[in-house]
Amino acid sequence: MRITIVGSGYVGLVSGACFADFGHSVVCVDKDADKIAALKAGRMPIYEPGLDALVAENVRQERLIFTTDLAAAASDADAVFIAVGTPSRRGDGFADLSFVHAVAREIAPALRGYTVVCTKSTVPVGTGDEVERIIREVNPAAEVSVASNPEFLREGAAIADFKRPDRIVVGTQDARAEAVMREVYRPLYLNQAPILVTDRRTAELTKYAANAFLAAKITFINEVADLCEAVGADVQQVARGIGLDKRIGPKFLHAGPGYGGSCFPKDTLALVKTAQDAGTPLRLVETVVAVNDQRKRAMARKVIKACGGSVRGKTVALLGLTFKPDTDDMRDAPSLAIVAGLQDAGARIVAYDPEGMAHARTLMPEVTYAEDAYACAEGADALVIVTEWNAFRALDLGRLARIMNAPVMVDLRNIYRSQDVRAKGFSYRGIGTDP
Ligand code: UGA
Repeated sequence: MRITIVGSGYVGLVSGACFADFGHSVVCVDKDADKIAALKAGRMPIYEPGLDALVAENVRQERLIFTTDLAAAASDADAVFIAVGTPSRRGDGFADLSFVHAVAREIAPALRGYTVVCTKSTVPVGTGDEVERIIREVNPAAEVSVASNPEFLREGAAIADFKRPDRIVVGTQDARAEAVMREVYRPLYLNQAPILVTDRRTAELTKYAANAFLAAKITFINEVADLCEAVGADVQQVARGIGLDKRIGPKFLHAGPGYGGSCFPKDTLALVKTAQDAGTPLRLVETVVAVNDQRKRAMARKVIKACGGSVRGKTVALLGLTFKPDTDDMRDAPSLAIVAGLQDAGARIVAYDPEGMAHARTLMPEVTYAEDAYACAEGADALVIVTEWNAFRALDLGRLARIMNAPVMVDLRNIYRSQDVRAKGFSYRGIGTDP
């Protein structure tokens, strides 16, 4: 199969590299010439474990190439995947589809022979209809079928998620397009991944429903964590106790500082807008959005409480800034709200993150950035674990207690056991474990 991927961001680049690794011939396109030049030189625009090696190998095998020439790349393809950004639109929070529509307009005149054009970006219901309308308007003779193929990969585990998905969702009612998509994914469903073929609108909504459900699951356990703190119960045991019920499942029940990232915040908001516009508001998702927003800021109050009610003039050390480990992504990271809340309360912030500091520096220039976890903690009045990077899971607690001004730990990811930390002389606060 000849596959063109438009947009060399997270989804586009990972999908392109993985499709190439299946043996397909893949062209990754981006309008950002610097990004394409960097990719050609083997430099990745994002941090994703294993991606650089996967890209290098498939470039070497001549199955993966990079270009800025969208029209040329689209004209030869059996399938064109649109994987450009769909950010939240300023003002109303609805997904901004201008990039998706621009791609449709640009590829339309170039399409030659039968081509499946497929949205891989998370796009609101009806986007496929509009992409098809644009292409047919620009090029009425185009032999094209527009399908939806949402992507469910997670940052930090993107390659594994792509290659071993729980399911593949394809939205098309055209048998010819379905055959192309089955061929594109043949290596995966040979590996037992179920492929769900449905209509285009259902596929588009499935992606939003999945993300909203996961966001609701996290928000549910986060609120239960607050209740645990109030009544003296342990949220990790509650999560285990409910997660063993197969109808609930154990995943996405880790209480924390609130979900962040490039997907859940944006997608839940867009779904709320879609539902309101359709006259069928999703009140549960509206509440999830509101509760999660408040939670991030509430984490700053939790730190202040752990510091005896005030952080004015104190130094607070933050470990982890990215919205989750194994990524350099700072988008909607809880750390942003926590830092703002602590600074507003008069604290000085020192922070360390294994991959996120370059971006963090531009977003939070008033923060002092440390070389490693220990340099970060030195002289601090509290140590806050914000992101559960593996490197933070086995810190030398004795050494930390000695170098800190006051041994206070606030563990927003529950990566330590309270008794272990307290045994080293710390005052310890986890999430949903202690009052
Ligand atoms: C999420 C979904 O998990 C993917 O299936 C989806 O494809 C992707 O969005 C997308 O729409 O593109 P991602 O945002 O990369 O993936 O990361 P997650 O691992 O889902 O984490 C999202 C947020 O939830 C993080 O802030 C994380 O810390 C938080 N989280 C997750 C919790 O607080 N508790 C949990 O139990 C799980």
